[in-house]
Amino acid sequence: MKKPIEPFRIKSVEAIPYISREEREKIIKEAGYNVFLISSDKIYIDLLTDSGTSAMSDNQWAGLMHGDESYAGSRNYFHFEETIRELTGFKYIIPTHQGRVTENLLFSVIMKPGQLIPNNSHFDTTRANVEAKGGIAKDLLYPWAHEPDYEHPFKGNINLEALEALIQETGAENIPLGMITVTNNSGGGQPVAMDNIRSASEIYHKYGIPLFLDACRFAENAWFIKSRDPKYHNTSIRDIVLEMFSYADGCTMSAKKDGLVNIGGFLALNNAEWNERISNQLILIEGFPTYGGLAGRDLEAISRGLKEVVDERYLEYRIGQIAAIGEMLDGFGIPYVRPAGGHAIYIDAKRFLPHIPPHQFPAQALVAALFVEGGIRGVEIGSLMFGSADPKTGKFQAPQNELVRLAVPRRVYSYLHLEYVVQALAEIYKKRDKIKGLRLVYEAPALRHFTARLAEID
Ligand code: F0G
Repeated sequence: MKKPIEPFRIKSVEAIPYISREEREKIIKEAGYNVFLISSDKIYIDLLTDSGTSAMSDNQWAGLMHGDESYAGSRNYFHFEETIRELTGFKYIIPTHQGRVTENLLFSVIMKPGQLIPNNSHFDTTRANVEAKGGIAKDLLYPWAHEPDYEHPFKGNINLEALEALIQETGAENIPLGMITVTNNSGGGQPVAMDNIRSASEIYHKYGIPLFLDACRFAENAWFIKSRDPKYHNTSIRDIVLEMFSYADGCTMSAKKDGLVNIGGFLALNNAEWNERISNQLILIEGFPTYGGLAGRDLEAISRGLKEVVDERYLEYRIGQIAAIGEMLDGFGIPYVRPAGGHAIYIDAKRFLPHIPPHQFPAQALVAALFVEGGIRGVEIGSLMFGSADPKTGKFQAPQNELVRLAVPRRVYSYLHLEYVVQALAEIYKKRDKIKGLRLVYEAPALRHFTARLAEID
C-alpha cells in the first residue's frame, strides 16, 4: 500500500484527551447513545465532520495578522475576490459566513414557491433551504450510485437521461436553476466526471437553465478527475478547476471544506442582476458586501487556503488518506461504500451488523460502539437520520442504506491515527454479534438525529 505522506511538517500541536473505556461506557449511556451530545473533550479522534475542522497553515495564521477590519472596502476582500476570480472565472464574488446562508440567499432571491431544483444529490442544508422557500429539491443519481459495492470512478455523476426527462416533464420555466454537487457528499463523497459536468451543462443550457456547482469540495473533485480520467493526467489542478467552473454560471461554497478554514463561504456568479439582488439581501442578513458576516482576517485566511488547496502534493496526500483507510478495511473484510470517497469513508452498517434490523438503528449502534471501543466519533447516515413511521400504517420506513460516515478533517490526523481507527473497527467486527440494537427514548419533531436519546435493547 502507498502510504499517504504529509507534505508539511508540524509547527504547533494540540493535546487530545484520552479517557478510559469504563468512562466511555458511562458517557455513552448518559448521552443517550447519541455522540452529538458528548462534549469534544471526551473524544479522542473526532471524525464527525471535515467541515470547519481543518488545520490552518503558518501562512494562513500569518494572514490573520494582516486582517483589515474596515467596515467597507477591506483590502482582504479584494484579495479574496481576486483569488476566487482566478480560480473560478466568475465575475461577482459575494462573501458569506458559511455554506447554508449562501444557499438561503440564492434560493430566497431566485426561486419562487413550487419551483424545482435538480441536483445529483442535495446536501441536507441545500435541500432544507430549497424546501424552506417552498421549492422542490430533486436528486438525480444513477441507480447504481446507491449500491455500496458498485465500483465506478465517478459515482457522483448526475443522471443525464433523468435530468433531461425531468426538465421536459416539469417545464424549463419551473426550474430557475440546476445544480451539481462536487464531490457528492450525500452519495458517499464520490466525484463527478468532467464529461458529466459538461454534458449536464449542455442540457441545462439548451433549456435556458443556469447551472450552479455546490463547490464545497471542488479541489478534491479536480484531483479525482486528474487521477481517474486519462485525458486529464497531464493537466494541472488549476486548469481542471477552471474548466469545471467554465461549464457553470455560478457556485455556492462552504469554505469550511476546501477553503481550509474554520469558518466562511461565498457565492460566485456571472449574472449582474442576480448579483445586485443577492447583495442587497446580504446587507439585510449577513453584512456589507465586502465582508458578508466575516472578519477581514477570515477573508484573508480563506484566500490563502484556496491557494493551498489546489496544491497537487496536498491533494495526493489528502485523497491518499481516505484511500488508505479503505485499503486497511479491505484487509479485515469490513464493508464500506466503494470506492473510497474524497473526504470520508462510509461504513456499510447493514452488512456490518446484519442481525440488527433497521428500526433498531444499526448504524447508530455502530457509532456508539466505535465511541466505546476507541473514543472515536463518526456520524450516522441511516434510519435515525432518515427513517420514519408511515403516517397511515405506523410501519417503520427504512432508508435504502445504513451508513456510518467517518469524515477526515484536513491536515489534522496522522496515518497512525487512521490506523488506530481501523483497528478499533476491526475489534468491533470480531465481536459484532454482541452489539445490540437501540430504541428511541426521545425524538424532536424535525432533524431528530441531532438531539435524539436512545437506549440499548436487551
Ligand atoms: N453543501 C455540501 C455538499 C456540504 O457538505 C455542506 C456541509 C454544505 C453545503 C453546507 O455548508 O456547513 O458551511 O453551512 N457539510 C457539512 C458536513 C456540515 O458535515 O458534511 P455549511
